[in-house]
Amino acid sequence: MLRQTTLVGLLAAVAAGCAPDAGDVVNVYSHRHYDTDDELFDRFTEETGIRVRVVSASADELITRLEREGTRSPADVLITVDAGRLHRAKTRDLLQPVESPVLNENVPPHLRDPEGYWYGLTMRARIIAYHRDRVSPEELSTYEALTEPEWEGRILVRSSENIYNVSHLASMIAALGEEEAEEWASGVVANFARSPQGNDTDQIRDVAAGVGDVALVNSYYIGRLLHHEEAASRELARDIGVFFPNQDGRGAHVNVSGAGVTAHAPNRNNAIRLLEFLTGPEAQEAFAEANYEYPVREDVAWAGPLADWGEFRPDSLDLAQLGELNNEAVRIFDRVGWR
Ligand SMILES: [Fe+2]
Repeated sequence: MLRQTTLVGLLAAVAAGCAPDAGDVVNVYSHRHYDTDDELFDRFTEETGIRVRVVSASADELITRLEREGTRSPADVLITVDAGRLHRAKTRDLLQPVESPVLNENVPPHLRDPEGYWYGLTMRARIIAYHRDRVSPEELSTYEALTEPEWEGRILVRSSENIYNVSHLASMIAALGEEEAEEWASGVVANFARSPQGNDTDQIRDVAAGVGDVALVNSYYIGRLLHHEEAASRELARDIGVFFPNQDGRGAHVNVSGAGVTAHAPNRNNAIRLLEFLTGPEAQEAFAEANYEYPVREDVAWAGPLADWGEFRPDSLDLAQLGELNNEAVRIFDRVGWR
């Protein structure tokens, strides 16, 4: 009789969605590698008593690891820095859908998976960084205008192997169609200052050094240079202007770093609580202050460089499409010779 009562109670708890997890722990596989995140995890533990164990690696390594571990995986949460990777994890059945009124409230619909497989934690804008002495913001307008002959030999951008570029081109395909997006990519290649090399920070440094005049990069890398521990880096960053393209049209391309609950999460409820915490006001402010990323929440004020760069119109494209158009984008890069 006692056993039956316990079982009924347990079933009721499961039905109510509040079944306790076996441990007071949540296991996170993360491609983010910032001090801010560790501080936030500590605060989460203070608030909830749930310890956060983190495995850090690249998104591709973490996805491979999840596939290998299968149902035995200890992971509860996967965090990546691109919606395209989250989509990939979803299509490989590595994530599970989550229904949380708190998450739906915290994260605007276009910055999360429509079925609840992943949620954006921070937003990043792909902007045009320009040298203040050699380029006037009046000369800049759209991503599309970078194919004009006046930009010949002046554009810096990293390799097409990087997911930021793949997602950006995916957004161009969504906006313009495949044919025009290919013409755009080909036009940008024709205006390269050099064949792609280095990361986003290198492109910014090389704009400052005069290798090129403009660069396509994520905005937070400029924030990091402005607050770099070396004075020389802070100084060169002050020569760089931030331009948000396509403000009279669809808006600047944005992506998210985001997270989903893994398909076989042993601590599913703890995982959901962590996502709710990371999209809460305290964590959202911390992401913006320490890593110069944009909060996904609309009610969190922008401080520091974000406030200096001012308001902008982000492209409201449903980010799930970035993953869906990923392969098409890669094929275009190959065809136009964007290495
Ligand atoms: Fe990055």
